[in-house]
Amino acid sequence: MLKVNDVVLYQAESYSNSETVGTVDGYTIFVSGLIVGEVARVRVTYVKKNIAYASVAELITISPSRVSPMCAHFGKCGGCVLAHLRYSEQLIFKRNKVANNIKKLGKSDAVVLPCMPSPAVIGYRNKLSLPVRGRRGAVRIGMFERNSHKIVATDGCALVGDWARILIEEFTEYCNQNGVIPYDERNFSGEARHLSARFVDGQLLITVVSNGEFPHDLQSFARRLSKHFDKFGLFVNINTAHNNVILGKETRHICGIEFIEGEHLGVKFRLRPNSFFQVNDGVKNMIYSKVRELTDLSQTEVLVDCFSGIGILTNILASERFDSYAIEIEPSAVKDANEMALLNGSPSLTNVCGDVTEELPKIVSANRGKRFTVVVDPPRKGLNESICNTLKEAAPDNIVYISCDSATLARDISMLSDTYCITYIQPWDMFPQTDQVETLVLLSKKVR
Ligand SMILES: C[S@@+](CC[C@H](N)C(=O)[O-])C[C@H]1O[C@@H](n2cnc3c(N)ncnc32)[C@H](O)[C@@H]1O
Repeated sequence: MLKVNDVVLYQAESYSNSETVGTVDGYTIFVSGLIVGEVARVRVTYVKKNIAYASVAELITISPSRVSPMCAHFGKCGGCVLAHLRYSEQLIFKRNKVANNIKKLGKSDAVVLPCMPSPAVIGYRNKLSLPVRGRRGAVRIGMFERNSHKIVATDGCALVGDWARILIEEFTEYCNQNGVIPYDERNFSGEARHLSARFVDGQLLITVVSNGEFPHDLQSFARRLSKHFDKFGLFVNINTAHNNVILGKETRHICGIEFIEGEHLGVKFRLRPNSFFQVNDGVKNMIYSKVRELTDLSQTEVLVDCFSGIGILTNILASERFDSYAIEIEPSAVKDANEMALLNGSPSLTNVCGDVTEELPKIVSANRGKRFTVVVDPPRKGLNESICNTLKEAAPDNIVYISCDSATLARDISMLSDTYCITYIQPWDMFPQTDQVETLVLLSKKVR
């Protein structure tokens, strides 16, 4: 019988997400940090019935696909779980992940194209959200350890540019010199919960997430930042909720710029701190360009972009030849979207603030009989049965589905499969070094 602390010889046979799976004496054992084909002595950390988890004690055969991870925190931090795998193999891993989900959960035989690489494999993230923990005078800012709420304190992150290292250093010093009390999630006490930031086109927005009113003057932090950054804005977000959602509802501007301004793919945009923005600018631009290429709008009378965020993609697709609607639930993103429509003079574009489940049926019934094109880009939980039924009712010739979770994508494709089939499906590596993957799908109405 297998017990905790037993050391056994293990061969990694397949993957379950980024963990490898192997069998020893009738037990299915999950081990992270290995590559399929590798053999290792592993130490058992958990056993229940015939399932066990183990960690590597000694690597015996080393895969030719193994590389040295680019970060000292690899293995501890829950972020870059694939950093030990050669980048070309990461792309194969991601394609296989999507293909397995599409086959098993989506019940489709569609051919999944190879995963498109990211132009940058480190330093690509434009966003950072780190917990602030430790104690007064000894603040620790970092990532959570894998499957835990312990902090791996860090002075930076390989996925984010050097701006993050500077920000973490300056905020840690500011907290320690000003007696800021970090959050303690055991009893919901303390002042600073999270440090969030977004850096796009040389402009930085920083949000200090506070457990109630932030009792410290942030001006000296702003002075520190001004030594490093020309264009930055500082915000306080109030979050007193007893859960692990990062942002609360109220965000106040403290000083500096109020939004990031830019122009991507010919669309001028404004971005506020609470609005969603794809984390990898290079891959975002490639996916949006591919959507434009895939979407034949020549017959379209109504375009609906569901889960539209600030709406760069809506503006790319919108035209004076048809009515366009963008549906987004986050008011700050809709504010950005309304300003963007003005900045770009986008004709016939209506930004709707609300839930897709409720707003899409209204648009569909107000435009009954017209030819629709629909784009959906939901959060990880995907669509729901009601949205899928409304899509079938609107009966667009094509649906563009952008997904950040191929399991919910596959489930939704299977819900739509009586009416739609996959005509294009390709993973895009929005998140190199992690096991996450973005997938772009074109669904076309079946000919009856
Ligand atoms: C994955 S993001 C995509 C945003 C946008 N398409 C883009 O490329 O930047 C999903 C967006 O859906 C919004 N959202 C989440 N649930 C929603 C809902 N039920 N109805 C409308 N929007 C929702 C989020 O605020 C977020 O902006």
